Amino acid sequence: MPDQILLKNTLIVTMNSNLDIFEGDILVQDGMITQVGKITDNRNCEEFNAHGYIVIPGLIQTHVHLSQALFRNLADDLSLLDWLTKKILPFENKHTPETLRVSAQLGLAELIKSGTTTIMDFGTVRHQQVIFEELAASGLRAFAGKTMMDCGDMPESMKEKTSESLAESEALASQWHNYDNGRLKYAFAPRFVLTCSKELLIETGKLAKKFKTLLHTHASENKDEARLVMEKYGERNILLFDKLGLADENLCLAHCIWTDEKETALLKERKIKVLHCPSANLKLGSGIAPIPKYLKEGIHVSIGADGAPCNNNMDVFNEMRLASLIQKPLHGPEAMPAVETFKLATIYGAMALGLEDTIGSIEAGKAADLTFIKNNQVHSIPYDNIYSKLVYSTRSSDVEHIMINGKWILRDKQLIKINENKLLDSIESQKVNFGIN
Ligand code: GUN
Ligand code: FE
Repeated sequence: MPDQILLKNTLIVTMNSNLDIFEGDILVQDGMITQVGKITDNRNCEEFNAHGYIVIPGLIQTHVHLSQALFRNLADDLSLLDWLTKKILPFENKHTPETLRVSAQLGLAELIKSGTTTIMDFGTVRHQQVIFEELAASGLRAFAGKTMMDCGDMPESMKEKTSESLAESEALASQWHNYDNGRLKYAFAPRFVLTCSKELLIETGKLAKKFKTLLHTHASENKDEARLVMEKYGERNILLFDKLGLADENLCLAHCIWTDEKETALLKERKIKVLHCPSANLKLGSGIAPIPKYLKEGIHVSIGADGAPCNNNMDVFNEMRLASLIQKPLHGPEAMPAVETFKLATIYGAMALGLEDTIGSIEAGKAADLTFIKNNQVHSIPYDNIYSKLVYSTRSSDVEHIMINGKWILRDKQLIKINENKLLDSIESQKVNFGIN
């Protein structure tokens, strides 16, 4: 039985520090990329003819909500706080282990079919174990954590006791952080300042330090949210995180639209990670994040689709296209060139997660996380600039195969680990739980 896979004759977009692009081969052994270039020695290799594909680093989304996949198309035309209190928090609260399992599988199926190989997931308050089980089964690389919330504008029954939220998070982290040789990692997930007490935020910061891992939250997404944070704590959102001892390189903040100069300086100084979600920001009418400014300042930015009900999908190709296009009317057509945008979903995503030595580019010594895109489609040829093709004209339906840790997870558009037909059948039967006929 050959112990190596040789991917032959393909167009390789490496995203290495030289941004090399060339026709060549990739040798994969024990889940790792061991050689990239022209490879002639095919002894002990299973050969895979990858001619006709563009092979790119597996795409990385640093902010998604698997628990919300089942709420797709159920919460349109609302701004953030109404969207949360009227729809999303009650929906999440209704999840049973069964509905959550279906939601996680649906989200994972969509992510894999559209070329994403690594995610950071926001989880949900209850039954988080189910999301970890589905992540474990899916083969995807992920950070995830249970959502924490112990106060805010919602019925008491939806709130956790502070001590229980902390204890449950710690127990889940003990169980799942570094599962499967580090394929899964725990990221602590207090929801946002308006649903978290100071004590919860401070103690969660201590837990993240104890586990030497990420603290993932939402911040400065919406003007009303920013105002209410100021009313609640007398401080701007990101400055508050500093006061609470959270503002360090492990802090990952979804959105960061409504930041002032002091907060921007703090993002840069403390190497805080900005998780940009362009579709969600448009659909909830939240605003347009100052991403070109952040990038110019050297602030870390990566990308994610956020949850299905504020998007309404989790397609990273849509996110890249929008991340580039929405800045152009504001800052001129030269803003967010395609290559810079493509970095958000590859090497910058890896950096946000502290995984830049493992993923984000195609180089010997990194994990074999690869996305294969069918070249020469009528909607995507010809090209001068491969990044232009990848960001503006490639569609997620051009994704044919993906490999994670050297294992096929999608082959000829077919999910290997998830039974798609069974999943589609089970979705219908779960909808009733959310009051949908
Ligand atoms: N802020 C707090 N929770 C959420 C959420 O679930 N989605 C979005 N977009 N913003 C949030
Ligand atoms: Fe979110």
